Amino acid sequence: MIRGWTVRQAIVFCRLSASGTTDDKGQSPVALQKYDLLADMTRIAVLTSGGDAPGINAAIRAVVRTGVDRGWEVYGINHGYAGLIAGDFRPMGPRDAGEIMQRGGTILGSARCPEFCTEAGRKKAIESMASRGVEGLVVIGGNGSQTGSHALAEMGFPVVGVASTIDNDLYGSDITIGVDTALNIALEAIDRLKITASSHHRGFLVETMGRNCGYLALMAGIAGGAEAIVIPEYEMEPEGVAEVIHSAYERGKPHAIVVVAEGAHYNAERLGRYFQEHRDRLGFDLRVTALGYVQRGGAPTYADRMLGTRLGAAAVEELAAGRCGVLVGMRKNERATTPLGEVVSSKKPLDENLLRLAGVLAK
Ligand code: F6P
Repeated sequence: MIRGWTVRQAIVFCRLSASGTTDDKGQSPVALQKYDLLADMTRIAVLTSGGDAPGINAAIRAVVRTGVDRGWEVYGINHGYAGLIAGDFRPMGPRDAGEIMQRGGTILGSARCPEFCTEAGRKKAIESMASRGVEGLVVIGGNGSQTGSHALAEMGFPVVGVASTIDNDLYGSDITIGVDTALNIALEAIDRLKITASSHHRGFLVETMGRNCGYLALMAGIAGGAEAIVIPEYEMEPEGVAEVIHSAYERGKPHAIVVVAEGAHYNAERLGRYFQEHRDRLGFDLRVTALGYVQRGGAPTYADRMLGTRLGAAAVEELAAGRCGVLVGMRKNERATTPLGEVVSSKKPLDENLLRLAGVLAK
């Protein structure tokens, strides 16, 4: 039997492989096997993994309700891959997905799970689904989570990923669930800080999340009218930042806002320390506000509710059509699927033209 497959699945696989036939569209036995397995799918599960993101609950709701609409049973798995291994499943009907869309976080909970990084852990996870008759899985999450879903797909389990992370660093989707809300939270903070900055003629360092990706800092910096933006993709030395701030003051600006990505070498802490140590020479103050987890909480915006809804529903459609081992996301405002193997082995580029534009607009 193929490692990790249920008895019924393995039987269907053997029957079709042995027949060696192709259908009238010329599909290979392997393609036929996938189609047959999924045509009678009746039970799926959904989990959320990695960092939570506003809009995830809308995606869960869409998976549950579109699944039920197809006549399927849908299980929610608590606490991500850890719950999958431990068998922490709960049946979900339309009412269980009620009043959740407007809430931040994930009602299913999330966890980091080192055991799932081992083959033994993943086998347990597949057994856990097989013993409950779960035939397809939706994984809502970012890079780490989709690395996990790719590993399951490689073991032959039907899985579809949904692009979700506030960092927007996931290849295969121009925008991911949670980004819009996180940016709006950062903008509100920047707008408020600008008022104090102008009143006191002070400079402010605002640190955004984003792990190793500068997207949140770049976009919040542009839309918030920052004087300087420091991101890991294009590092800036402290003296360069000081020059930009000096020149802003000389041009008559009453404030100086520097948006820094947490992943930059000179993050807010390091930059803040540098400016404190050289305060007398530089001649100005730079106060630090690290937004941190504030960006991940809060009610999802309209855009994130819609994105979660569209991608959750799309994941169910992909499973129903037998297009597994893919990530559903958005490209050029259209729903798009990308093989998970490509997703986990590719890096999403940052648009450096936007950084140049930010410099021009800061005049
Ligand atoms: O990936 C989302 C994110 O919030 C990153 O921006 C941040 O670096 C990281 O998660 C924090 O991870 P944790 O939730 O494990 O502290």
